[in-house]
Amino acid sequence: MKTIRKPATMTQAMVALRHAGASVGLAPTLGRLHEGHLSLIKKARRDNDTVVVSIFVNPLQFKAKAYKAYPRDLEADIKLLNSAGVDFLFAPGPEQMYPEGFDSRVEVIDLAGKLEGKSIRWHYRGVTTVVAKLFNIIRPDRAYFGRKDAHQLALIRKMVADLNFPVKIIAGPTIRARDGLAHSSRNTLLTPEERMAAAAIPKALLAIEPKARGGGDRTALTRELVTMLTAEPLIKVDFAAVVDAETLDPSVMGGNTLIHVAVFIGGKRLTDNRLVVSHGVDGSKPASR
Ligand code: PAF
Repeated sequence: MKTIRKPATMTQAMVALRHAGASVGLAPTLGRLHEGHLSLIKKARRDNDTVVVSIFVNPLQFKAKAYKAYPRDLEADIKLLNSAGVDFLFAPGPEQMYPEGFDSRVEVIDLAGKLEGKSIRWHYRGVTTVVAKLFNIIRPDRAYFGRKDAHQLALIRKMVADLNFPVKIIAGPTIRARDGLAHSSRNTLLTPEERMAAAAIPKALLAIEPKARGGGDRTALTRELVTMLTAEPLIKVDFAAVVDAETLDPSVMGGNTLIHVAVFIGGKRLTDNRLVVSHGVDGSKPASR
């Protein structure tokens, strides 16, 4: 695997490959890789001649304290990427992505404000800005994102459609631990007690899922979800909603339904969701199965 730090070098390498007729798949990450990332990389490996993974802890999508605390382990990540058969690692520093005087942002305006987006619009602006930059630098044919971050996925799909990025967005299922907790780099920050408490998140989502499929009242289901989650003393619910999966609007009915939660456990923010489609769920499954 070749590691590249400079955006211009990365673009050069990708342009040369594409001239030679190779297809390129990109899995953008924040690093501290886990099974969720590996399942996206596996998918990318199957679909493309060349697989690129980016590792960049993007300062535009974090508050200063969370940016500093975000788990990083580049050495371990490189080992995993090598064994997953990745061809290129793009690992720029903030000074390469946002040089002095950087002054542009990419924002999906209405959709970013849905769910809890009103209070973290700045976060999603940071995500769409960095993903747009990664697409321009790497120019992938396909880009891979997890369904766990459903709002992020919807925003990236919309940005790609609205701004005509020539890239196909491919979503991978949420990969879960044995007790159902969705894999996330942030799980590594939980104490053993907090990690045990976190199992209440998938449990609550699973309990609501059949009721959502049955067309239950969304406001009542959201209330029930919050009640179930707050029964675990270490959980502080930041946001919960049952909404239409495409528009993220609770009043739109008839399509797929998204059950979404964001909670704090010991100050660490964890999110999870279940997508309820007419013929079943999104394929979320324990990693062990
Ligand atoms: O989901 C993530 O890992 C990040 O938000 C992403 C898409 C790599 C942008 O920094």
